[in-house]
Amino acid sequence: MQVHFAAERPTDTDVLAFIVQKSAWDGFALPLDNPAAARETAKLARFEGNSGQSFLFFSQEGGRTMRIILVAVADGDAADYIRAGGEILAKVQTCGAKTIAVHAANLDAKAAAEVAYGAVLRNWRMDKYRTKLPETAKPTITDITLFGAPVGAEAAWQTHSAIANGVALTKELVSEPANVIYPESFVERCRHLAELGVEITVLDDQDMAKLGMGALLGVAQGSVRPARLIAMRWDGTGGAQEKPVVFVGKGVTFDTGGISIKPAAGMEDMKWDMGGAGAVAGTMKALAGRKAKAHVVGICGLVENMPDGNAQRPGDVVTTMAGQTVEVINTDAEGRLVLCDALHWAQETYNPDTIIDLATLTGAIIISLGKEHAGLFSNSDELSDQLIAAGKASGDKLWRMPVGPAYDKLIDSPIADIKNVGPRDAGSITAAQFLLRFIKDGVKWAHLDIAGTVWGDKDGPTWAKGATGYGVKLLDRFVADNYEQ
Ligand code: BES
Ligand code: MN
Ligand code: ZN
Repeated sequence: MQVHFAAERPTDTDVLAFIVQKSAWDGFALPLDNPAAARETAKLARFEGNSGQSFLFFSQEGGRTMRIILVAVADGDAADYIRAGGEILAKVQTCGAKTIAVHAANLDAKAAAEVAYGAVLRNWRMDKYRTKLPETAKPTITDITLFGAPVGAEAAWQTHSAIANGVALTKELVSEPANVIYPESFVERCRHLAELGVEITVLDDQDMAKLGMGALLGVAQGSVRPARLIAMRWDGTGGAQEKPVVFVGKGVTFDTGGISIKPAAGMEDMKWDMGGAGAVAGTMKALAGRKAKAHVVGICGLVENMPDGNAQRPGDVVTTMAGQTVEVINTDAEGRLVLCDALHWAQETYNPDTIIDLATLTGAIIISLGKEHAGLFSNSDELSDQLIAAGKASGDKLWRMPVGPAYDKLIDSPIADIKNVGPRDAGSITAAQFLLRFIKDGVKWAHLDIAGTVWGDKDGPTWAKGATGYGVKLLDRFVADNYEQ
């Protein structure tokens, strides 16, 4: 779908959309052939301009029957305009119409760009494996035009367009099945970021063995797919920001649970156990695409957790790159084993002040927070506040959870330095405590448990049922607000 900006309404559009704020609705002069009839229709549809309300009707405009959409938004919130754009697109995505024109004369430049952004995000879907999709179920929209927007809307859109490309990469990586996306192919799908100026470093399993990444490799050893680690570095400051901010993603391309095997029902969901890595890759694409004035490194620890004859066993003790030993009580608590080596390598290699990991780490976080918020765990109030603010602004919401010594002691092992699971209680917190043991003194760290937010069981404001792209808008906003000032 192409996005255009124009001064006047295109004459041949199939769909015409209006976005109104509650406060403006009563006095809003609908520029239609018969505005009185349109008002009457709105009244019958009980449309009163309340935020979140929207409806579609058919109307004769210039001798043609057109679809008209009205969407109401609250006053001025970015997430609201993004949602409005998504809503418009969703209403007509497969209706046979080709072109949408959005009346943008009553929007500011930023809002107009956000509407386009929402529509583009919502338009993404994965149809490549559906060879028998009926014609009537195929997306038909080719163009969306925002007309009458103030100057600056198109420039604002260029930024959003780059972020949307990042979100699309994340959704693609998350949606692809695990026979297509495995550690090596994940790396290949990231290679094109080099064209945007991203410096890519890849460690293979032998490199990681030399570095002593026994925890990460212990997870991978039950799979025929060799492990990889990819680091993507973007410096848009020309060296001015010496220390990069570092993002680390859990990239378990499939999680069977290993020898502590998961039940069959729902196991297919574990193709998206690389959602953290997917978000990190998408964020790097977004940042480089919009030439962010920040120095950022995105790292993905990539493994497949399988139960073959060489798989690690419950009770095995592995030695991490940091030198700490881990008793592997449950081979299904593999994400933390991957992340501890990736986090340690990241700190050794890039010496960051701030490191943020994203991981579909625990089922327990879905019990705690459902799909509305991802869990935030951190050793820094300042970093937490920054992330929560970026979450609110971007729509990728976060809720802070506690960490502390009383939880930490629950993962002491009788045979090694740490065990990889605690008791049943507080499962998301003990998982975070495990990671915190690998954070160096003085480093600000946050862990985002995104197990509940990576995949949507139903359509959402910026996604069709399936991959949500969670994390890219959040991290992009976090970088924009805290590193590009
Ligand atoms: N990848 C899972 C967590 C998960 C579960 C993500 C459901 C998305 C949906 C993780 O590797 C896992 O298996 N965690 C275990 C930890 C347990 C063994 C301590 C869990 O949550 O049950
Ligand atoms: Mn697992
Ligand atoms: Zn997992």
